Amino acid sequence: MFKKISGTKDILPDELIQWRSIEEAARTVFALYNYKEIRPPLVEEAALFNRSLGQSSEIVQKQMFLIQNKDELYCLRPEATASIVRAYIENNLDKTVGFSKLYYSGPMFRLERPQKGRLRQFHHIGCEAIGSADAALDVEVIALADKLLKSFSVSGYKLKINTLGCGLDKQKLTGALRDHLKGAIGDFCEECQVRFEQNVLRILDCKNQKCRDLVAGFDFKDLYLCGECKTHFQEVIAGLDALGIPYEIAGHLVRGLDYYTRTVFEITHGDLGAQDAIGAGGRYNNLVKELGGPDVGAVGFAFGVERLLIAAAGVKTDKEKHLAYLITLGDAAKKEGVRLIYALRNSGIACDTDYESRSIKSAMRRADDLGAAVVLILGDDELNKKVVMVKDMKSGQQKEVPTDQLIKELKC
Ligand code: HAM
Repeated sequence: MFKKISGTKDILPDELIQWRSIEEAARTVFALYNYKEIRPPLVEEAALFNRSLGQSSEIVQKQMFLIQNKDELYCLRPEATASIVRAYIENNLDKTVGFSKLYYSGPMFRLERPQKGRLRQFHHIGCEAIGSADAALDVEVIALADKLLKSFSVSGYKLKINTLGCGLDKQKLTGALRDHLKGAIGDFCEECQVRFEQNVLRILDCKNQKCRDLVAGFDFKDLYLCGECKTHFQEVIAGLDALGIPYEIAGHLVRGLDYYTRTVFEITHGDLGAQDAIGAGGRYNNLVKELGGPDVGAVGFAFGVERLLIAAAGVKTDKEKHLAYLITLGDAAKKEGVRLIYALRNSGIACDTDYESRSIKSAMRRADDLGAAVVLILGDDELNKKVVMVKDMKSGQQKEVPTDQLIKELKC
């Protein structure tokens, strides 16, 4: 028997009720903020991510789903920011639309070791606002993330925010941190020792408590941020204060992707265990230019849908109760039933019928399992009287409805 690949999930119809409610709420909120949907392909050139996320990022180092096609190397996208910037440039949106506010949802792929909240195929709902370096846009994007969580009925989350400064500030910081840790690097975890060589900033947000203690005193913001980046961060913080959005300044938050500059943020939730980020994002002012586009700033974020669902686990989503379920008794009624459900569906009424010739009792049970709002019973008696017996599943009441009145009756 075949089994799904470890770290992937079948999302079954019952679970999809909650998925859809999140997706629909997201569409409404994105429209409120005037973001337009974009759907880039799931397969891209691997080089796009090597270039954007950085050769030393964990994703590029060990998590890419690579596909060799003759002499070209493709990959299943591990994230969408780079794809969207590519699409923005390739489709000349910079020239035709200019400043663009885009949102997306769909699967991402990372060859990680699966655990709670960490999958190899998972889903993002996210957005990218491309074409402005204005601090007010960082505030809008964070307010949008907050609004989305509220619309998903997720509560108890924490917004952590930091700034990495511009490219030059990051370089200065990298150098200073390397100098600072040089003598003590042997005391850090194995992963941090590799990070020291490849991406020293990531040592700052290592989860290992010993490493945390070792870097606890390293405060860099005042030392390495240029004046403009300091002002930008102050404006973002003042903007969040003005909107009453709670946050915590997390001086050691650096994020694992190379493209970030200035604002970075992460939203965590206590119900998630070790993988506690339900979403994350930040500014990437150099990426559009690095990928061949104009020199414009951009900012965005993505939520992990599977993690949102864990955080929203207590939220009840009602089964959709609009189905009419037809039970026919006898051959003549069965024939008439085919015509009847065809007519009902053509009038926009969702309906289904029993294809397994069950007894009326088990067909009723099936209707209940499906969450039917009404059951329509059609037997020889009803056929003769040109009526259908309509049973309301909530109240249990039933009544005969003339066949030619049925659509009208079900629509009210
Ligand atoms: P990221 O932090 O890599 O950022 O992913 C965003 C969110 O996706 C995480 O906070 C987490 O909820 C979820 N996630 C990540 N990896 C997994 C996994 N293996 N299994 C389940 N969920 C996962 C980005 O991808 C950036 N592109 C976000 C962004 C957009 N920055 C700017 N614009």
